[in-house]
Amino acid sequence: MRKLFLFLVVLFLSFQQVTLAAIKEMTSTPDSVYLFSFATSGDDGRSGLRFAWSTDKENWFEIGRNYGYLRCDYSRWGSQKKMLDPYLKQSPDGEWICTWKLNDRDGYGQATSKDLINWTSQKYPRTTPDFDGVRVKAIVAGEEQKGNINRVVWTLVDGLDKNYGWNQYRNSLHGERPVQDGERFAGLKPVKATVTVQPEGAKAISDVLLGAFFEDINYSADGGLYAELIQNRDFEYDPSDREGDKNWDGFHSWSLRGNGEAEFLIVTDATDAIHSNNMNYAILDVKQPGAFLVNTGFDGIALNAGDKYNFSLFGRVPVGKSNKLLIRLVDAGGTVQGETSVTVSSRSWKTYKAVLIAKASVDVHLEIQPQSAGEVDLDMISLFPQNTFKGRKNGLRADLAQILADIHPRFIRFPGGCVAHGDGLKNIYQWKNTVGPLEARKAQRNLWGYHQSMGLGYFEYFQFCEDIGAEPLPVLAAGVPCQNSACHGDLRGGQQGGIPMNEMGAYIQDILDLIEWANGDAKKTKWGKVRAEAGHPKPFNLKYIGIGNEDLITDIFEERFTMIFNAIKEKYPEMIVVGTVGPFNEGTDYVEGWKLADKLGIPMVDEHYYQTPGWFLNNQDFYDKYDRSKKTKVYLGEYATHIPGRKANIETALTEALYLAALERNGDVVHMTSYAPLLAKEGHTQWNPDLIYFNNREVKPTTGYYVQKLYGQNAGNEYFPSQITLDNRDDQVRKRIASSIVRDSASGDVIVKLVNLLPVEVNTNVDLSGIGAIQSSAKRTVLTGKPADTPLPIEDTMEVAEKFDYQLPAYSFTVIRIKKANEK
Ligand code: AHR
Repeated sequence: MRKLFLFLVVLFLSFQQVTLAAIKEMTSTPDSVYLFSFATSGDDGRSGLRFAWSTDKENWFEIGRNYGYLRCDYSRWGSQKKMLDPYLKQSPDGEWICTWKLNDRDGYGQATSKDLINWTSQKYPRTTPDFDGVRVKAIVAGEEQKGNINRVVWTLVDGLDKNYGWNQYRNSLHGERPVQDGERFAGLKPVKATVTVQPEGAKAISDVLLGAFFEDINYSADGGLYAELIQNRDFEYDPSDREGDKNWDGFHSWSLRGNGEAEFLIVTDATDAIHSNNMNYAILDVKQPGAFLVNTGFDGIALNAGDKYNFSLFGRVPVGKSNKLLIRLVDAGGTVQGETSVTVSSRSWKTYKAVLIAKASVDVHLEIQPQSAGEVDLDMISLFPQNTFKGRKNGLRADLAQILADIHPRFIRFPGGCVAHGDGLKNIYQWKNTVGPLEARKAQRNLWGYHQSMGLGYFEYFQFCEDIGAEPLPVLAAGVPCQNSACHGDLRGGQQGGIPMNEMGAYIQDILDLIEWANGDAKKTKWGKVRAEAGHPKPFNLKYIGIGNEDLITDIFEERFTMIFNAIKEKYPEMIVVGTVGPFNEGTDYVEGWKLADKLGIPMVDEHYYQTPGWFLNNQDFYDKYDRSKKTKVYLGEYATHIPGRKANIETALTEALYLAALERNGDVVHMTSYAPLLAKEGHTQWNPDLIYFNNREVKPTTGYYVQKLYGQNAGNEYFPSQITLDNRDDQVRKRIASSIVRDSASGDVIVKLVNLLPVEVNTNVDLSGIGAIQSSAKRTVLTGKPADTPLPIEDTMEVAEKFDYQLPAYSFTVIRIKKANEK
């Protein structure tokens, strides 16, 4: 009778198109129902495993509109990560097993779950009997789908539905943005607040909380921070660097122009090249002088009037007839803006050097013109400004390095990101290929679709850290490449294939060698000697080492990570190893990564999340909830606020300022943080937003940059809780106001940071009673504007006292730096 009633209700509702929630309100629930599991073929299952339920296998009710409960992790973002023909079955012990096809080549994906909501790490078997069950067709939300049916208890369906509802609710919170403020805060009057410091609750916080994460993405290194002005100086660009670009090869950026008769060839010959790691070189075979070789730099070569430029090349004249090469820097109008010459006279490879002085601040190209007939072989053709950051040889572009230094980052993480673990095993970043003489370094495909010369290598990274007083944080692959690797095939070299076990010993040795290279004695250790020979006898004092980058926490990962971790712990117990907990702030990798951290006692883990303004707004308590008894600290290694269009403006910057206040509050658990990505060259950007945009002449920090800089320059190592009391009890108002009060024990300065994300002013009384005697004049910096604006911070001084009033502008971030009394 009950079943009949239910059947009639369902029939009725199917015509009425009502929701599951409504059904439950109107009926008593069934004990069990049919569960149809499927993935849509239209998108090759990229939207994941979906469900519908029915009491009669005829009328199906979708659980969650277009909602995927499990998504395939295999292979590249975009057109891959497919879930084809999923089959769901329950094992005798109640566990659900979902098996699907990955593609026509690589086999199957598989994951298990107890509740169909939380899934284990995925595995990718070559063959599996679990895929072979019967599929049926069903109409779900008006569309025919193919899948399979299980009989399940109603509570399972109910759980899925509640999970969907909860996620919808969360999404609505995470969708909160200032554009809705007109409606949300209609009629809101300026708010009154008191911010009362609670000195009795003071705690020590990390003194390296704010750092920077440098990855060679968006042409951040070659053509960016690395000051080399010649693109493809070693003729090593390779078609494999950049799929689909037919102009991307050894000739890239080079051409032969002018009169005369000459041939320009590129030869690949490991035994005859200047180094076996640098196998390509150019031959200029001049029959009749007049032709010249041109390099167009990275979008041109930007000269600064009066500046000196070091020119160098490796050259030889195989038949021994010396050849004078005219070296010119020529602008678009044909005017020579700098000129010199070198005479290549050696039959074997030799370095030739000269200096040019720029006549004007213009954009030029480089010309190399042989003055006589005959063959000249050329390689490593370089033009370097003498004006690099701190005047370092093979150094960094001064203005870009300075803007990074201005953040006062307490550490720098490098070289990635995805660049560190690479696209497939062969693309894993190998630090040893990036140190030593430039001609011996091994260039490599950059997985962001270009080329890494490795001119900016580990030595230069460590040197830069030292130059700006930042701790180096190198990140090395955990024996697995990027989780979005495309290189599977027979080798299965993507995420799902780690370094083979018989090669892991050598790989681990490389990691141990890095620590020796950084810290070893210059005379007594092999790698310390290598560092000393490169010009740095003193150890770099490396304290932190990252192993892994947001990898999927699979068995393959765990096995390799554990081997590396144990080896470092045994040989260098003082080293702070930073592990990884996946690419998101929740989900399987986050859960499994933290389990592994707890199991191994990893000192720190690297969390990553790129989120909406609403996420940051509604998760200010993310770390308040962290278990303080855990051994493992957090490194928030990658985060940024993403809005539609991926712009950086004061909306994103203020959201980050608000969240950073929460990070300072949790500076006992969160040891380090870094925004990502850091740099982006205009016209060569693979990822937005970035903290700093630049071109060859200008550096364009975003509003978010100033937030990072303000936190970096106004960091403290002692945190004082503060109580915010408002005359408005609305939670929407409360969560948009934040304060953070810290003291920098070195200077004794007290720093008050105040964030207001409301469209109205907040009239604040700051009560610093009990914090100690302070001076009455303080430095104030304010960043404020309408949400889509990109303002600059404004600095001035203000009067302060133990209790003082301050009016926070609408949509603003204020930093008030107060000196302790008796300080000049
Ligand atoms: O920051 C850009 C990329 O984001 C990093 O390379 C990677 O770690 C993350 O997915």
